[in-house]
Formats: sequence, C-alpha cells, structure tokens
Amino acid sequence: MVSTRLVFFACFLINSLAADYVINNKRFPSDFMFGVATSAYQIEGGWNEDGRTPSNWDHMTHTRPEFVKDRSNGDIACDSYHKFKEDVAIMKKMGVKHYRFSLSWNRILPTGFPDKINEPGIAYYKNLIKELKTNNIVPLVTIHHWDLPQSLQNLGGFLNASIVDWVADYARVCYKAFGDDVKYWLTFNEAKQICMGGFGFGYYPPAIHSEGILEYVCAHNLLKAHAKAWHIYDKEFRAKQNGKVSVVLDSSAYIPASNKPEDKVATDTVLHFELGWFANPIYNGDYPEIMKTRVAERSKREGRPKSRLPEFTEEEKALIKGTHDYFAMNTYTSYLVESIPDPGIQDPPTRWSDIGVNNFQPDTWENTTMEQDWFKIAPWGMRTLLKWIKYHYSNPEIIVTENGVCDYGDMEDDKRISYIRDNLSYLRDAMIEDGVRVFGYTVWSIIDNFEWQHGYTQKYGLYQVDFDDPKRTRRPKKSADFYKKVCTTRCITDKCVV
Ligand code: BGC
Repeated sequence: MVSTRLVFFACFLINSLAADYVINNKRFPSDFMFGVATSAYQIEGGWNEDGRTPSNWDHMTHTRPEFVKDRSNGDIACDSYHKFKEDVAIMKKMGVKHYRFSLSWNRILPTGFPDKINEPGIAYYKNLIKELKTNNIVPLVTIHHWDLPQSLQNLGGFLNASIVDWVADYARVCYKAFGDDVKYWLTFNEAKQICMGGFGFGYYPPAIHSEGILEYVCAHNLLKAHAKAWHIYDKEFRAKQNGKVSVVLDSSAYIPASNKPEDKVATDTVLHFELGWFANPIYNGDYPEIMKTRVAERSKREGRPKSRLPEFTEEEKALIKGTHDYFAMNTYTSYLVESIPDPGIQDPPTRWSDIGVNNFQPDTWENTTMEQDWFKIAPWGMRTLLKWIKYHYSNPEIIVTENGVCDYGDMEDDKRISYIRDNLSYLRDAMIEDGVRVFGYTVWSIIDNFEWQHGYTQKYGLYQVDFDDPKRTRRPKKSADFYKKVCTTRCITDKCVV
C-alpha cells in the first residue's frame, strides 16, 4: 500500500519538475541517428507465402484466437511483405537515418534449422536492404523479435538448452546472407519480455505461468545464446563485414518516491532486477549481486536446496562478458519506487516478490489508453535511466531502439508529438548535462501494426494503416510531419541554438 503522504510528495516532486521544465533547444549532433522501427510478425503478413512456415505467434493466434483482444492475427498485418517499397518511400520522405526491422526466422529457415535455407525468404530481406541502401537509410537488423519457429517451440523453445545452438546457427545464416550490407545487428528484441511474457506472466506464447522459476531458466539460456551469436560474428564475420552486434534490453525508468535512503536503495534494486538481469552478465560478467543474494536467500526460505536463479560457470561468465558493441535500449515509461517490508514467501514464487519493492505511477500522471495500465506518460525518466546505464555499464555508446506511445488511432495525434518531443528533450539533457553517449533514437513505430495480445486495438504509428482496406493504405498522421521536422532539422523546438 502506498501512503497518501508519499504519493503527495512524489506528485509534488514530479509535477514541480515537469512544470518548470524547459524543452531543450540545442540541436542534435550531425551524426545523431533518428530512425523508426517495426518487427516482422507485426507488419509483414504473407504468413504462408513462398515457403514460410508457422511461428509461435501464427500457431497461437490460429489455435487460440481469444489470446488476442480482437481475435486478430498477423496473417496480413500491414502487408509489408508486398508493400515494403512503399514503407521505405515513407521513411525516405520523413528523412530518417535508420530503419530498425526484424527477420522472420521461419521465413528464412522453414524447419527452424539451417538444413534448408528458404531462398525467397532471403530474397525478401535482400530486396528490403537494397531498397534502404538506395535511399540512404541505414538498416538496424533484429535477428529475433519474438516470432520463434513453431517447430522449435514444439521442442521447448527457450527452455531447451539447445536454443543456444539453434540461435547461433540461425545468426550465422543471417550474417552470411546480409552482413555485407548490415552494420548494426541486434540478436534479440527485449530479452526480458521474451522470458517474462513467455514463461513468467504468460502473456506471450507459449503462455506458461512460472514466475520466478522458468523465466530465470529462459533468461539463462537466452544470455548464452546471445553470447554465442556475438562470438560467431566476432570470429567469423567482423574482420570482413566490420559491423556491430548487441541485444535490445528494455526497462522503464525508476525514480525514488522520496529522498529517503531506503527508497533509493529500492530503486537500484528494481533496476538491477529489470535491466541488470541481462545487462550485468553482458557488461560485468554475472547476474547483479543483489539479485543473486535475494533469490538465493528466498529460495532457501522456501525450502529449496538451491537458488531458483541458475548459476553461470566461470567459463560461461567469461563467454558472456563483453558481448556488446553498443547498448541498445527500449524504454516507454517511468515508475516511482518505495521500499516495503519483506513481502514474505509466496507459493508459487513471483519475481516481483524477489524484487521486494513497491513501484507505482501516481493517478495524476497522464494515461495513454485504458488497456495499457502499465503505461502512463512520464518522459522525465528518460534522463535518469540513461544516466543509470552510463554509471553501471562503463559509459557505453547507447541507442534508444524503441520509444513511442499508443492511442486509439487519432490522426491529430498531439499526444504523440509531445511524447516524442519531451522524451527527446530529456535524452538531449542526458547527453549535454550528464555526458551520456547517446548516438541514436528510434520511434516505435513508423506505421500502425499488430500490437501482440492487443491486436489492432492499440496504435503506435506515425502513419495510419487502414486495416479494413485490402490495400492497407498508409496515411501520415500529424506526428509524421513533426518527426520529419525533427529528422531533417535535428531540432525539437521551433528554433534551435548551435
Ligand atoms: C516491443 C514492440 C511493441 C512495443 C509496444 C515493445 O515492447 O518491442 O514489439 O509493439 O513495445 O508495445
């Protein structure tokens, strides 16, 4: 329970910060990358064309349509499998420097394995990359953005330790096929969501509920898979292709609810569990100390002979540490954090009771849509989060690979404009005031698309897509003009200095 006094303090703190806040009017550096993002299953469609086999999302939406709010699926989605040239033309018009998209594993490897490479699948992405190149748009390629071949899901997916080799073999095929033209690779999108969504809360396929147990197992395998894919690039491709490989991590910003020392400690604890869970092994060689200690201690109290958090061997730690060429981060919102008394032992366990703090968003913060109860508009966290990353992971070069806001499809989307402007302003503050090395920012998304368990009910696009129209016509919203101005002037106010 959050005390009224605390909420009052927190609201006062944030409201006064927000009220006095002046939008940053310093121009972004000339090499700063402004871009947009999408992912394969959310936009491509063409679900059974040219040799593509079903992914876990095809399987789930076809066998359990009620899994998605409007019982929709990605069979056609934005039809970008056929309309990618139009998408690139929109981006060109907008003046973006990069486009982040993902590859469909089952379009490239229909069995999930490299025994059979699907040439039309390879050709699709080659054509897309060529189109981007012709238009001077840099591709940022995510190898896996949540759509796993169902054939691999049937074998246990991320719970099967062999996923390490499956990912590595698939990544090698991708580097080989596209690596001459791709300089920025991302192994996974939002590592944490794959495990939390798939095996913790169960809101993504395979929809298993096993908080605090299987989600840790999934993460353990995923980290090893990322590391192996990074090393393959490093050893076999880097010298010739000269690109960079990273993984997209996601975190909200967390801010102490008061200036009490225990709330500050609680805030660090959440960040170690939310971001450090993946970032710490990659940057510092193991899970964060606080995470290891808490889960081990709670597991003991539950009567378990060992911790629910698996341990890395020394060899594995060494293999994972350093597998980053830049820091890729998705962030959407902020929370206030307060310390609470030990939540006691839960049966079954939950990861949030392992974390053992209370995080909340005051009612006074602006809502996005009714369905997104996790997502209020709180852009000031952007700066705090970037600063935290700088401090804990040795001042890496950072790109924000996703940031954006949902609504029900307004064409006059002023909320989206202020959301992007304010996030960019706090990001610019972090660069100037705190010396955080941010080199890019990416809006989610260029076009409205299939929003996972929410289907087509939540819109994130700078462009509207008419999903009732077989042509899937794209139309610019007001925010598309705004973002075009940002991309072309590198300025978020009417007039910039320097
Ligand atoms: C995911 C996207 C998703 C977006 C909005 C991110 O977590 O990477 O695929 O559409 O959030 O929910």
